[in-house]
Amino acid sequence: MSRFASSRLAVLSPYVPGEQPQDKKYVKLNTNEAFFRPCPAVFDAVGEIAGRLRLYNDPESSRLTDAIARLLGVESENVLATNGSDEALAFAFMAFCDENTPARFPDVTYGFYPVFAAVFGVKAHIMPLDENFNIKLSDYMNAGETVVIANPNAQTGIALSRADMEKIIASNPNNAVIVDEAYVDFGAESCVPLTKKYDNLLVVRTMSKSGALAGARVGYCVGNKELIADIKTVKYSFNPYNVGTMAQAVGEAAARDKAYYEKMTGQTIKNREALCGGLKALGMEYLPSKSNFVLAKKAGMSGEELYSKLKEKGVLVRHFGGRIADYIRITVGSREEINTLTDCLKEIL
Ligand SMILES: Cc1ncc(COP(=O)(O)O)c(C=O)c1O
Repeated sequence: MSRFASSRLAVLSPYVPGEQPQDKKYVKLNTNEAFFRPCPAVFDAVGEIAGRLRLYNDPESSRLTDAIARLLGVESENVLATNGSDEALAFAFMAFCDENTPARFPDVTYGFYPVFAAVFGVKAHIMPLDENFNIKLSDYMNAGETVVIANPNAQTGIALSRADMEKIIASNPNNAVIVDEAYVDFGAESCVPLTKKYDNLLVVRTMSKSGALAGARVGYCVGNKELIADIKTVKYSFNPYNVGTMAQAVGEAAARDKAYYEKMTGQTIKNREALCGGLKALGMEYLPSKSNFVLAKKAGMSGEELYSKLKEKGVLVRHFGGRIADYIRITVGSREEINTLTDCLKEIL
């Protein structure tokens, strides 16, 4: 640390992203990327863009915002595009949490939430999941704090129904409820329709997973227009040109091809079922996922050991510590990747 580091920096434990190895080619099932390519229009959009890169991008991301609004059946004033959904989450923490308003979220969830809380000087009020890794609804009723829930939840893949989410949202009329729907397209129920009914609900979404655009960095949030205006205030106080021209163009192309992505997320769900079948046949346990990943374990073997042995064989999965230290998180890949993974697991076990 330099002599100039602020006291806030001194206590930060930054977020550790999943490995993105550049040394050799792995069967890469560690960071929940899509196994399928972006839709064909994305390839055309990239080719056309170079000539426009001389100019600044549209700070309002108007075309992208309109395409997302149309896709979701909301108005453009209810949508704000961001540089990945991490940025939307950061903006939401800045906008809706402060020293008097902690952020409340589960102990097992997306690892960036505690980091955002620390970086923005906000107290994190952490609620343990139950023994089956389910969110306890009662922990979030009348919270009196800003509620942050990933649905489906990160790392577990378990989803709450829209009806249960509505109970939480309705019981917190005086606090913002941030619902992170990074994985919702893989079989869970979205809360976007509830944004028309509740002025405290901000839904955060990404094209990184179901949009097959992780490297483009396209995220967005959806909510009542006053909430979106608050997020906009943060954005224009931080990085007005937050979504680059290239990202806007590919995001727009993807948002317009609903049919392609429905087909591919459907395929992902089928592959997830095949993966779970393979894990079961190997005597492994796994949590019931509505995401494009599965958290799995084998009794008698640590998650760390499974992760390392798979890596030696060229298959990259993710391992976390804490309550899920026994598990590995496996991204749902193509059928071929799943077969390679299960063959390797068979040899290891
Ligand atoms: C639950 C959850 N939210 C948000 C993100 C951030 O995604 P991105 O910034 O790529 O949109 C991730 C990424 O892994 C995630 O798992």
